[in-house]
Amino acid sequence: MAERFFLTTAIDYVNGSPHLGHAYEKTLADALARYQRLCGRSVFFLTGVDEHGQKVQQSARALGLDPQDFCDRQSGLFRALWDRLDISFDQFARTTEPRHKEAVQSCLCRLQEKELLRFEEHEGFYSLRQEQFVTEKERVDGRWPEIFGEVVPMREPNYFFLLSRFGEQIRREIESRPDWIVPEFRRNELLAALRRPLQELCISRPRSRLAWGIPLPFDERYVTYVWFDALLNYVSFAREGEGGTWWPADLQIIGKDILVPAHGVYWPAILAALGLPLPRRLLVHGWWLNRGAKMSKSTGNAIDPLPYLDRFGSEALRYFLLREMTLGNDADFSDEKLLQRYQSDLANDLGNFAHRSLSMIARYRGGRVPGWIDSEAGQSERELASAFDEEAYRVAFDQGDTGTGLAVAWAFIGRANRYVDQAAPWKVARAPASEKRLDLILAILAETLRRIAILIEPALPRSSRKLLTELGVSEPPLLSRAVFAPPRESYSAGAPEPLFPRVEG
Ligand code: MSP
Repeated sequence: MAERFFLTTAIDYVNGSPHLGHAYEKTLADALARYQRLCGRSVFFLTGVDEHGQKVQQSARALGLDPQDFCDRQSGLFRALWDRLDISFDQFARTTEPRHKEAVQSCLCRLQEKELLRFEEHEGFYSLRQEQFVTEKERVDGRWPEIFGEVVPMREPNYFFLLSRFGEQIRREIESRPDWIVPEFRRNELLAALRRPLQELCISRPRSRLAWGIPLPFDERYVTYVWFDALLNYVSFAREGEGGTWWPADLQIIGKDILVPAHGVYWPAILAALGLPLPRRLLVHGWWLNRGAKMSKSTGNAIDPLPYLDRFGSEALRYFLLREMTLGNDADFSDEKLLQRYQSDLANDLGNFAHRSLSMIARYRGGRVPGWIDSEAGQSERELASAFDEEAYRVAFDQGDTGTGLAVAWAFIGRANRYVDQAAPWKVARAPASEKRLDLILAILAETLRRIAILIEPALPRSSRKLLTELGVSEPPLLSRAVFAPPRESYSAGAPEPLFPRVEG
């Protein structure tokens, strides 16, 4: 039986529309899911949307819509974008689905039975904009920062999850797992946070203030609040068949803003309280910035991916996002950089190699790829055959480092283009008694293109499929098939179509 691999992404708030940051995270997850499939694993890829909370309620009200209708509409926008980007998820989580609500309620009952919830009155300051209690420590020069909006004194009884009981256990567990978080500097950040005393986590809001949430099963006056509901999607949508589950996740992909405390403290504590294992690994990515600033709905600088999809196509946007971001860091988005990658890496390197190879097979051999003739192979053929560094490719993708993984694939594409220049089939074609030599070169080009088509699959699924079809390959792409194995017999290849047509600068 194939080895299993379960990966998740953060679920996006539906109060705004999807932007480039959301598109990056889902594309990253998709490339890693495809890479795992390429390795022959059986993959379960979960993504979705976060539909409860004050902001959704407010946004719906502002449009005069019922919150559920608003969520249906917004979720549709996310799903439509994932379709255009070829995000190959297996399950789409919506936190307003009945099965999620039931799972959350059953978890709440379990915590209540285990006496891990406490009902108590909390007195403090409350941010109306962030819809949360804030502490004196958060004041800057005696004033509440802008992001909190109006802050008012408030006294309110609520349910608290006894988070502090788990701090020590989580810290020890994370300390014992050096690769639990990628990249490593994020792990240090989390461990530093876990060394400080933890406050209990308020998990409820009175229904009178927040109606749009999941009611507490033991107290109808309250609904559960954001994180407790949202985090549990990872288990409520991981069910498999009768009573089975995909949990624990092999990989959870999140942005740097939701590591501490959400996924690094609350989530491990909730899991420990429920007696469930921790995920095997967290991959924490950085942000895409718009001219140095974080994109957000409130500042109105969010980049909409749609015009880029219209202009460059999904493959180019995927490639750019996966290649240009250094894992864990932030990256600045710009039209110029995208255009440059399009022209150099896609149109020139990959597009040219594919086009040259297939059109020479069409021109010189009427579209038949010649069989392989061992005795004709020389030094440059042998060098090209061994030029792909599979180990480096695997290490990079195993770490979630798509930029490095793609750089390894592109080094091979660069080598392939140099081979064409050196072998110069157009000269060989004119030389006398060189039929066998030309056969060999064309067979090598087709074989190299077949290997490249497999290696680009995680980032460029459409181009990969197109090339494999043109080469007459019907088997699904697998990394184990990306080894050099030229066919002994000749076979037919299709006519080349340009993969990346010219776009105007
Ligand atoms: N709903 C919560 C997550 C709950 S997970 C149980 C949330 N939603 S969000 O819509 O604000 O963000 C969703 C994901 O998108 C997060 O991982 C976040 O880091 C990521 N991004 C949001 N803006 C981003 C960029 N500008 N760049 C890259 N990713 C960013 O948080």
